[in-house]
Amino acid sequence: MSREKRKIDHIRHALSHSRELQNHFDDIEVVHQSVSGLSWDGLRLDIKVGELSLSSPLFVNAMTGGGGKKTEDINRQLAEVAAETGIAMAVGSQMSALKNPEEKRSYEVVRKSNPKGNIFANLGSEADLEHANQAVDMLEADALQIHLNTLQELIMPEGDRNFSTRLNNIEKIASRLPVPVIVKEVGYGMSMETAALLKEAGVRYIDVAGRGGTNFSKVENQRRENPLHVFEDWGIPTPVSLLEVQRTNTGAHIFASGGIRHGLDGAKALILGAEMFGMAGGLLKVLVTSGQEALIERIESIHHELKVTMMLLNADEPHALAGKAYILTGKTKEWMDQRSQ
Ligand code: FNR
Repeated sequence: MSREKRKIDHIRHALSHSRELQNHFDDIEVVHQSVSGLSWDGLRLDIKVGELSLSSPLFVNAMTGGGGKKTEDINRQLAEVAAETGIAMAVGSQMSALKNPEEKRSYEVVRKSNPKGNIFANLGSEADLEHANQAVDMLEADALQIHLNTLQELIMPEGDRNFSTRLNNIEKIASRLPVPVIVKEVGYGMSMETAALLKEAGVRYIDVAGRGGTNFSKVENQRRENPLHVFEDWGIPTPVSLLEVQRTNTGAHIFASGGIRHGLDGAKALILGAEMFGMAGGLLKVLVTSGQEALIERIESIHHELKVTMMLLNADEPHALAGKAYILTGKTKEWMDQRSQ
């Protein structure tokens, strides 16, 4: 199967598998505060995260690697929406464009459509420092995401099977790349042990990309003749992963993604210690089914939901949500109770 066909299949399957209506964000109950002391006009969404200056904690997470006309169209449309709404955007894996220069234009269109915005490059952890520099140059990117996707590779018949050099690659890239390096998952979440390993490797930005939204086990299984169904519930749910990573006290900047459905989930992620929250499949679905205007409206309503939560909790800017009172319930509480013993 050609790479482009595989990537288009990814989009089709990612959009068709029913996204979970309920997920572990429902286990986080925010404690309501009746007395607000803020004014709506004084609420700010802009945020500084390490070396990055952003106009919102929301970003479009990595999707649609793989070149071709369809990728180019989707990347252009997402980039135009990101430019219009002022949010950051990550592209999908650029490895295929590094190997096939004719595919570069489907990524370059992102910078062309959004000359001043924050754009994150993206590669897998098989990439070396030279790949990383090239991926950043291709987009004049403000940061590089490196994704960890061991289970996805193992489910793909054509996926990688040798992961022995990956931590080494990450360590080299994190210490030498001139822009921030964000190590992310793809929907399986990160544990405290993973966060500790990444800290050792010098990683200062982590996107936990947990379970609860796009499920790559299901996406890949839909394309397989011999599906590995037993791994469809594998992974650490996003809110659990945020709590896990906090406990390792890595000092890293934490990004949340995986199953964030709206601005209240985003606010919960910030309460749990994330500084940014990313959305992928949910935003792509709005774009593909309803178009760019609908996606702009959706992003504006996510910002609105976030600001309502900030007003209710007396947080005048995104960082001020960190540590606001919440109650853990259900499976998330069970998990954290056992992990703290
Ligand atoms: C992805 N994701 C992804 N991640 C990555 O680092 N590189 C990639 O190339 C891709 N490709 C990709 C394609 C499609 C169609 C989807 C839906 C997703 C994973 C994505 O960035 C994110 O980590 C997960 O999708 C979880 O977020 P959501 O979808 O639950 O909001």
